[in-house]
This record gives sequence, C-alpha cells and structure tokens, in this order.
Amino acid sequence: MKAAFVGKGGSGKTTLAALLARHLGETVSPLLAIDADINQHLAAALGAPEDEAVMLPALGDQLPMIKDYLRGSNPRIASAAAMVKTTPPGKGSRLLTVAGANPLYDELVRPIGGVRLAVTGPFATEDLGVACYHSKVGAVELLLNHLVDAPGEYVVVDMTAGADSFASGLFTRFDATFLVCEPTVRSVGVYRQYVGYARDFGVRVHVVGNKVDDESDVEFLREHVGDDLLTWFGRSAYVKVAERGVARPIGELEPENAEALALMKKTIDGCAKDWARYTAQAVEFHLRNAQAWANAKTGEDLGAQVDPTFVLGPQALERAASAA
Ligand SMILES: Nc1ncnc2c1ncn2[C@@H]1O[C@H](COP(=O)(O)OP(=O)(O)OP(=O)(O)O)[C@@H](O)[C@H]1O
Ligand SMILES: [Mg+2]
Repeated sequence: MKAAFVGKGGSGKTTLAALLARHLGETVSPLLAIDADINQHLAAALGAPEDEAVMLPALGDQLPMIKDYLRGSNPRIASAAAMVKTTPPGKGSRLLTVAGANPLYDELVRPIGGVRLAVTGPFATEDLGVACYHSKVGAVELLLNHLVDAPGEYVVVDMTAGADSFASGLFTRFDATFLVCEPTVRSVGVYRQYVGYARDFGVRVHVVGNKVDDESDVEFLREHVGDDLLTWFGRSAYVKVAERGVARPIGELEPENAEALALMKKTIDGCAKDWARYTAQAVEFHLRNAQAWANAKTGEDLGAQVDPTFVLGPQALERAASAA
C-alpha cells in the first residue's frame, strides 16, 4: 500500500512520514520510505546523523540506470533516453515489489533507523537555471509506476510542499494521501487547493491535523475541512527532543500521537486496490505529458509507448517473473 504525505511547507510532512514509517517498522517488515522532496530531511527525521544523510545515494542522480533497468525488454521503449517520468510499464518491463531484492534497491536503498529509505537527492549545482528539478522527482514516479505492492506491504512517501506534485501524475500514485494541516488559515488554504485538483482524479485526501494545542484548534480544522479530518497530532515533546538529535524508541511517543499513527495505518489498510484504474491513470498522465512537452523533447511519439493490454498488478508480476 502506498501512502503520501502532502501539505503546506513546514506543516510536518517529513516529521509525520518518519513517525508513521517507524510505527509501521515496529510490526511489518516489507516497508519502504521514499523522500520525494529535493529539500530532503526524511533521513534525518528517521534518525540518520547529518553526515550520513548527505552521503545517501540519490535516485535523481541515477535516472539513466533506473530507466534502463525498468524498461527491461519492453519493445515499445527503444532506449532509456526515450523513457520519461511518466512512461508506463508494459510487457517486458521489469516490475518491482516492496520486499524483493533488485539491482535498483541494491544501489539506492539504505536502512536508516530500521527503515529502508530511498531519497530523490538534492538539487545539484548543475541543475540550477537549466533543468526543471521535476525531472529528478520523476524517478519516484517511475518507481511507483513499476511497483506492485500487496496488502500488508507499505511504501511511505514524503512529498514536496504545496501543489508541486501536480506537475505530473505523482499525486495519483497513492492508496492513501495524508494532507498534514496546521490549524492556520494558510494551511487549510493549501488543503483547499489540493483537494480542488485532486478531486477530478478521484484522489481521496485524509487531513491529519498537526501541532494541535487544544480543542479550539480541532474545532478550527473541523470547520474548514469537515469530514476530511481523519485525526490529529498534538505538539510533541518526543518530536522536539528528536529535533535536537536524540532519537528515542518509537514506543516512547506520546500515547495520543501513537493512536493517531494507528488510525492512519488502519486507514491505509482499509483502502481497496484498483490496479486497472491505477494503470489507466498512469497512461492518462503519460499521454498528457507526451503532448505537453515529452514528444518535443525526445523527438518521438511517446504515445506509442503505451501497451494497451497491460495492467499493472499481481498478475503482471507473475507473468514478468515466469518470463524472466
Ligand atoms: N507534532 C509536532 N510537534 C512538535 N514539533 C513538530 C511537530 N510536527 C512538526 N514539528 C516541527 O515542525 C518543523 C517542520 O516540520 P517538518 O520538517 O516535518 O515539516 P515539512 O512539512 O516536512 O516541511 P517542508 O515543507 O520544509 O518539507 C520541524 O522543526 C518539526 O520538528
Ligand atoms: Mg519536509
């Protein structure tokens, strides 16, 4: 199951993504955390010392390798260069699972604080003013579009602030979307903007209040987001101490905040998988991107990359395994 953390800058996306990942890590083993933000902090929030966090291999630096691996022997994708962030899988593509070993994970996934983590990587100096950083974030979309996760397996993704994820189909790649919201006018403004875009694509948003001090904060959130309010976190002494570099066991989190995590897990578990819809949306965004910029960029008709009979999911995974 794939879960995303979105919301206003500074609302607590990274903090809550890390807490949920560590909470899940206590009881489930197939778990992958992904930092999809170029301002990466998830490693530190999971407890990595600063010097270790900057040494992590970056997805954004390995795009050619990622593309070459994922396209496998898919005859519709002539080369890694013809593969863009939205290129969907088809017959011959290599598919990923949450738990299974593969060369990409070997290169790019590292255990941090008991959680397997992959990071997009920072904005490099050579990116400045030339390329759009969304190409780096595109690595995450490619991985998610080739990943077959089963119930009881979790992928937790820390996203960029605000509405940046709408620059591609990335925001539709999740079973559960947690919008972290402080009890402030600006934070609920981001919520309103997000649901405005997301609604058209059938993306259900669960609001998770954060830095809630008292009942009036809960009232404020309820007034502005209504039934979308799933749960909330209070200001946490546990988080504050962690910010000072002291990572304590997740079992020491305040009980009411731990309850909020348990409810989030339950919400993820309650989501139904619809692989046909997941695949169709990937194709839809690919065709949009092809028309908007990618055909011009690659000099090819990228619509031809779509394999019309392919549906991602457990059956595709079985077929790919028996063909390999
Ligand atoms: N429940 C909480 N209790 C106390 N402090 C918190 C809580 N949630 C977040 N914080 C603090 O708020 C700050 C911002 O949190 P965080 O970095 O998680 O936000 P973010 O949404 O990921 O920000 P960005 O948009 O920059 O990625 C951090 O200093 C974090 O420690
Ligand atoms: Mg963050």
